[in-house]
Amino acid sequence: MVIGIMGAMPEEVSQLCTRLSGVTVEEYAGVSYHRGCLAGRQVVVCCAGMGKANAASTTQVLITRYGAGQIIFSGVAGNMTSKIGIGDVVIGRTVLYHDADMDMLSQSAPYLEEYPGDPALIAAAEAACAAAGVKAITGRIATGDRFVGDTETKKKIEAACHPDCVEMEGAAVSQIAARNGVPCVILRAMSDNADEDGYEVLVVRDFDIKEYVATATKIVAAMIERL
Ligand code: ADE
Repeated sequence: MVIGIMGAMPEEVSQLCTRLSGVTVEEYAGVSYHRGCLAGRQVVVCCAGMGKANAASTTQVLITRYGAGQIIFSGVAGNMTSKIGIGDVVIGRTVLYHDADMDMLSQSAPYLEEYPGDPALIAAAEAACAAAGVKAITGRIATGDRFVGDTETKKKIEAACHPDCVEMEGAAVSQIAARNGVPCVILRAMSDNADEDGYEVLVVRDFDIKEYVATATKIVAAMIERL
């Protein structure tokens, strides 16, 4: 079985790509797909680009063109909970949109208003985080097409759907994976607190995410050993 591994930013997947053996790279619809072997498993690693449309189309390509039978998304997110801090991880038990009309979206397959993470992939992620000494919670991830970088928007999202973190791809990946009957899980390391500081650090000053990426790479590699 091929495992699809995705990120949204090049930094989120570049360290993983360097760990692959027997790599071939193919460009397709604006994305580079790195096929190779990681921890004895066939994987395809790619950077989808940011936002829901990029995430959805790349997920479908991973499944249809590269035969991905499981999908792991790994990236950073804005923290929305006091249960964890910067650098800690949220594993998506449930992933949902905070900027969509779900009455309408749920009228077509997979007919869901929220997208559950796959229990076996969640268990593997939890075990991998524990083994890597990374603090993680299994919780609720909210997705939207805008970076959340002000307190007012953060409060509105908090009131509407009570997520543990916000990001820009997870629900789209999960929706398309569910539509294809492919198990998936979203992993997010907290890079900011989804407020004015987060915007300054991540968007204005072009924050260096190396530390978070090192954590995520460790977790994904440890996870694949468990699948
Ligand atoms: N990814 C990392 N931080 C984020 C934030 N604050 N909002 C949306 N996506 C993010």
